[in-house]
Amino acid sequence: MGTIILGIETSCDDTSAAIILNCKILANFISNQTIHKEYGGVVPELASRAHQQNIIPVVKHALDHAKLRKKDIDAIAFTAGPGLLGSLLVGTSFSKAFGMAMDIPIITVNHIDAHILAHFIEKDGCKSPNFPFLCLIVSGGHTQIFKVKSHYSFEIIGKTIDDAAGEAFDKAAKIMGLPYPGGPLIDKYSKEGDSKKFSFPHPKVPGLDYSFSGLKTSILYFLRDNIKSDPDFIEKHKYDLCASIQKTIVDILMNKLHQASEQTGIKQVAIAGGVSANSALRKALLKKKEENNWEVFIPPFEYCTDNAAMIAIAGYFKYLKKDFANQDISPYTRYSDKIR
Ligand code: KG4
Ligand code: ZN
Repeated sequence: MGTIILGIETSCDDTSAAIILNCKILANFISNQTIHKEYGGVVPELASRAHQQNIIPVVKHALDHAKLRKKDIDAIAFTAGPGLLGSLLVGTSFSKAFGMAMDIPIITVNHIDAHILAHFIEKDGCKSPNFPFLCLIVSGGHTQIFKVKSHYSFEIIGKTIDDAAGEAFDKAAKIMGLPYPGGPLIDKYSKEGDSKKFSFPHPKVPGLDYSFSGLKTSILYFLRDNIKSDPDFIEKHKYDLCASIQKTIVDILMNKLHQASEQTGIKQVAIAGGVSANSALRKALLKKKEENNWEVFIPPFEYCTDNAAMIAIAGYFKYLKKDFANQDISPYTRYSDKIR
């Protein structure tokens, strides 16, 4: 019949469980934690506690939706890192216990690899990239350009030296007084605004690396100066500010991606991670398809932000190689290309 894998994602503030049959998703449930909105960012201790409350109901939903029982699962795959330690521990402990109780293999998944491998989820009308391809990972914690050589081989050719692109969106939104996470709101308000109204400087970073911390500071100073003469400046220009900030971040991302394509000669270009839900980034990529003959791969919305479907597919590829973990495995917080 095929291989059935239960995927578990608890690296940050989303508790998610998914079930995959080979490369086809049978269920993908996400429980978002709204509690962090009150604090303007993810509170690790609260996230960990909420994962403990959510994990069993989310897995039960996934099993019910897929019309499967626990004993139908061939292996359990879970995010072992990078992420928040307290959050990762919940998914890791659950998965180890589930694996032991059901006597099935447990598989560790690197969250970033999973964002990339989400491109191999079988979906009607969606084509997967061929190797090698470039993948821009843009999330709340990561911004990297990968050269993807196989389902198991990923080389970082560019990365941020400070903030991630999602962080740039969220911090800019916070400065404007918008709630967390600000990225989706900036995207929404940008649709009503003029992206050429204000301009912010681009960082000068060598090679294919990125930097976003300077942008945050220039937005802060720009708003502070304007508020001095007009206390309602932000409210009056909310839409144009959002559109201009969004354009700056997308232009920075696209310039280096363009450079990466020129340098490697690779024209198959994918994006992944939460910020790949951004409408301006999607549009900019599609423009490259027209102008530079790129073949572009953009994941469906539900596989952009954190989800367990991507963990399940990454687990499936490791299952094929019988790359299983032991019960003594511990989660890790930082990205390392040595740990997969
Ligand atoms: O991949 P993800 O769900 O979690 C991490 O692993 O970080 O990414 C979350 C990030 C947040 O910074 C959020 O603001 C951003 O993705 N994001 C967006 C959009 N949707 C989510 N940023 C810009 N535009 C969006 N539409
Ligand atoms: Zn992520």
